[in-house]
Amino acid sequence: MSSTAIPSPEPEPTRRAVIKAGAAIAALPAAPSRTCPDQAGKPVKGPGRVPLTVNGVTYERLLEPRVSLLDALRESIGLTGTKKGCDRGECGACTVLVDGRRIKSCLTLAIMQQDRDITTVEGLARGEELHPVQRAFIDQDGLQCGFCTPGQIMSAVACTAEGHAGDDAEVREWMSGNLCRCSCYPNIVAAVRQAAGELS
Ligand code: FES
Ligand code: FES
Repeated sequence: MSSTAIPSPEPEPTRRAVIKAGAAIAALPAAPSRTCPDQAGKPVKGPGRVPLTVNGVTYERLLEPRVSLLDALRESIGLTGTKKGCDRGECGACTVLVDGRRIKSCLTLAIMQQDRDITTVEGLARGEELHPVQRAFIDQDGLQCGFCTPGQIMSAVACTAEGHAGDDAEVREWMSGNLCRCSCYPNIVAAVRQAAGELS
């Protein structure tokens, strides 16, 4: 019967080897400063005071680089109209417009959106006059609990502006990133079609 050789244990590192490894790490070049390119290639700042322009007003807030735009809006600026549903890009409750394009604010960092034009549901009405999309949601009874409604409305504003509200099927397709647990979908589609008719 052949005997199996038992591998000899790894030699313990000597004190000298540990000190040499530490010195080598210390000699590495310093990490680059905390700036990183945003989507357009411009440098962004952080951590520190981050300017965010929301509904035409510029707010400067002390934000860590990890803070999402959604949390900055709700927790730091106090605009709670934008809702947090899933917080991972699945429900659309957090939809806002950035430079006119709809985005899910839970999926983007606040520092990436400085120097951009952010619009939330609070920025749609003109005084007492509701935006046509807001009015259409009321006319068509496009909500029950209302939790998804700010996101639906912001998405609908972009959907109509994009010209993606030509028929019911098109509206369903281009609003498909916004979920409604109350299942108001037929009324939401009707609201978007009504608003598109008024805005065209
Ligand atoms: S909270 Fe952002 S997609 Fe659900
Ligand atoms: S109205 Fe309740 S989730 Fe849409």
